[in-house]
Amino acid sequence: MKLIQSLKELDFTKENILCKPIAFIPTMGALHEGHCALVKAAQKNGAFTLVSIFINPLQFNNIEDLKNYPRTIESDLLALENAGTNAVLIPSHDELYNAGIQDIQVDLHDLGERFEGKYRPSHFNGVIQVLFRLFLFIKPNSVYFGQKDLQQCLVVRQLLDQEFQDICFHMVPTHREESGLAMSSRNTLLSVDDRKNAAEISKSLFALRGNIQNFHADRRTQIAHLKSKGIVTEYLNWVHLPTLENASLLDTNSQHALVFAGYIGTVRLIDNIVFNLE
Ligand code: PAF
Repeated sequence: MKLIQSLKELDFTKENILCKPIAFIPTMGALHEGHCALVKAAQKNGAFTLVSIFINPLQFNNIEDLKNYPRTIESDLLALENAGTNAVLIPSHDELYNAGIQDIQVDLHDLGERFEGKYRPSHFNGVIQVLFRLFLFIKPNSVYFGQKDLQQCLVVRQLLDQEFQDICFHMVPTHREESGLAMSSRNTLLSVDDRKNAAEISKSLFALRGNIQNFHADRRTQIAHLKSKGIVTEYLNWVHLPTLENASLLDTNSQHALVFAGYIGTVRLIDNIVFNLE
């Protein structure tokens, strides 16, 4: 696995890739099996796998969240090596943000105001600005993102549609712990008890999915149940894709999702499931 610590080195590496397509997996480190699944998915498609690790300050709307974000570079590199990653890029803040690249404006329509856009103002702008720069420098053939950040996937698709039509987008299903808890870098911030209770989030989502015609009544029950486990719900909605507008049984032509965000203590967790109406 090649370690690339500057964008200049990246150019040199790209010259030596011998015409393989580049599959790019952007991350902020604190890697878990879900990230490795992205690498594996890219390998299956025969690409040169390039993972970036960069904690992007611009996408944190809360300074405490940025400070507390887990930093585990040594174990990250080991995990990537074990997953068979071809190269890891660790760019500097200066290279990305002080190289004279102008910020990009992407029209997110209402997507930017809903859910994560509403509760984390400026978050998606930060994600867009860093990905815009990384995509410009790397010029990947394909990119891989995890479904756990469903709204981020939809935002990235807008960025690609508007600026990088040649890059192929892949969304890889959420990796879950045995308990059902969606894997997340933030799970390491949970106490043992909170981690056990946090597994109730996916259980609630699957229970709602199982009785979707009764969603509105069941939603209240599930929110109360989660509260009894110490989880404060920020949103729990039934929506359809790709707009994330509220869904109903009448929307038979689009994919549906149940989306959740909430706090357990000070840790904010998100999860979702995507499904079709039978
Ligand atoms: O999902 C993440 O880890 C980040 O939002 C990303 C895509 C690496 C951009 O900083």
